[in-house]
Amino acid sequence: MTLTQTAPSPFRIPADSPDWWRQAVVYQIYPRSFADANGDGIGDLAGIISRIDYLKQLGVDAVWMSPFYPSALADGGYDVDDYRDIDPRIGTLDKFDQLVAALHGAGIRLIVDIVPNHSSDRHRWFQEALNSPRGSAARDRYIFRDGLGEHGELPPADWTASFGGPAWTQVPDGQWYLHTFAVEQPDWNWDNPDVHAEFIRTLRFWADRGVDGFRIDVANALSKDLPEQLPTAAELAAMPKDGNHPMVDRDDVQDIYAEWRQVFNEYDPPRTAVAEAWVDDPARRARYASPESLGQAFNFDLLQADFDAASFRRVVAANLDQAALSGSSSTWVLSNHDVTRHATRYGLAPLAGSKAKQGAEWMLAGAPADQFDRELGLRRARAATLFELALPGSAYLYQGEELGLAEVTEIPDDRRQDPVFFHSTPEHRSYDGLGRDGARVPIPWTPAGPSFGFGPDSPEAAPAHLPQPSWFGQYSVAAEERDEGSTLTMYRRALALRGRLEGAETLEWEEELSGGDVLAFTRPGGWLCLTNFGEDPAPVPAGEVLLASSPLVHQDGSALVPGATTIWMKV
Ligand code: NOJ
Ligand code: CA
Repeated sequence: MTLTQTAPSPFRIPADSPDWWRQAVVYQIYPRSFADANGDGIGDLAGIISRIDYLKQLGVDAVWMSPFYPSALADGGYDVDDYRDIDPRIGTLDKFDQLVAALHGAGIRLIVDIVPNHSSDRHRWFQEALNSPRGSAARDRYIFRDGLGEHGELPPADWTASFGGPAWTQVPDGQWYLHTFAVEQPDWNWDNPDVHAEFIRTLRFWADRGVDGFRIDVANALSKDLPEQLPTAAELAAMPKDGNHPMVDRDDVQDIYAEWRQVFNEYDPPRTAVAEAWVDDPARRARYASPESLGQAFNFDLLQADFDAASFRRVVAANLDQAALSGSSSTWVLSNHDVTRHATRYGLAPLAGSKAKQGAEWMLAGAPADQFDRELGLRRARAATLFELALPGSAYLYQGEELGLAEVTEIPDDRRQDPVFFHSTPEHRSYDGLGRDGARVPIPWTPAGPSFGFGPDSPEAAPAHLPQPSWFGQYSVAAEERDEGSTLTMYRRALALRGRLEGAETLEWEEELSGGDVLAFTRPGGWLCLTNFGEDPAPVPAGEVLLASSPLVHQDGSALVPGATTIWMKV
């Protein structure tokens, strides 16, 4: 059951292949919460550089960094003031270059986040738009409209923004601008050629600095077609999402990505991209993943699925079909900075009246702590992770999940930062409940110390920008490194083994071993992954067990897979 050495694999896609991304394990860093080198309480680029050995030992192929650009942090950095600079609290462009060199030196690729649906209200062009008259070229880069009512005193439409509150906000001269998200995030007008040129400049800027790929925020919303008379919110919601919807997933958004694709392909190897597009219809999602478009798209189906054999199988089968449609590889995600950590989701009891289903709730709807079974949550999370890591395609991990971190629910209201929280009231819940801060609390590196090793161990160091709970120490990297049974040890072994799992992007369901709560599949080369989603132990098939998410149990001389457990076998 122990694996100490990664053998070179005949299957592994060579690191210098242009196809490196197809089955990569990508580790998401939320830069302000990863490691704080200078002790100001905010994670920084120097902190990331100091932890590259950790990432290498973990065995990830690439790092995706959430936004690190100058920002007032109205939305955790997704409100970008300047797309071609670094937040001075986080670092400098020189530091960024050092980071790229250090990651590449360790054989790790770098993906950065591009936020093209909206800028921040502090972006130079939005400020110019505010200081320019109605109808000016500067205003045309964003989406300004006159209001309704006798004096334009009413918003142009009754739309609600994604985090709650109105989607149209009035400026001093009486006009209104559209913001799909927070009021500080005005939407760009992608009908304006300046906007196209600006983003191409930005993509080249980072690609020239050695960035290997891009994660495209809200990739399905850039193109809009707003008639003179705007539809009401109810009308908008009733319109089919068939490519002609005025706001989302329009067919012509692909024209933007065709333009970007040319830029990506100027580089050797071509720069990669992955779309963040919450598009339900798999066939429409496949458009973003086509080689003429962004090349890959996140699927969030697994993170929204119930922890049961039938749901997981359905999701996997549908997404492998979707990958076949686009020619891309599948993507798998269980956690990210927008959802409740999966170690908590899987431990939540069903909530009365909640839209959520047992174990699948993707935002924590203010669940009281006594409804959370920490042990069950972690056990299922580890099982789901081993299942995920055995699948063909690429896996996107979120910082801290390799420690089995649970969502932090005990953040005082006055320390919260997420606009989702500020718009959430018992009467109006936009994404539900507490918002996303609980998944963004700075990482514990040591069992003790002023910020559990996130910042320097010195009395002068500022506390972590989001408060860490007292139970964080037991999940720290240093504590788990010493523990054979820890979640960190499991992730390290899984990633080392996975190097040998990367074969053809196919799997075969093992019907004879599957049924009821058990789901099993094999990958080329004789690798078996079997998950017991239920409570009763299940038999271990013949073969060599390589890894188990929880220890096997023994009954009458034979080994059994206990409930909520995944095993990997050589068969
Ligand atoms: C998706 C990002 O992941 C999320 O954090 C952000 O709030 C929205 N897009 C808006 O940029
Ligand atoms: Ca810092």
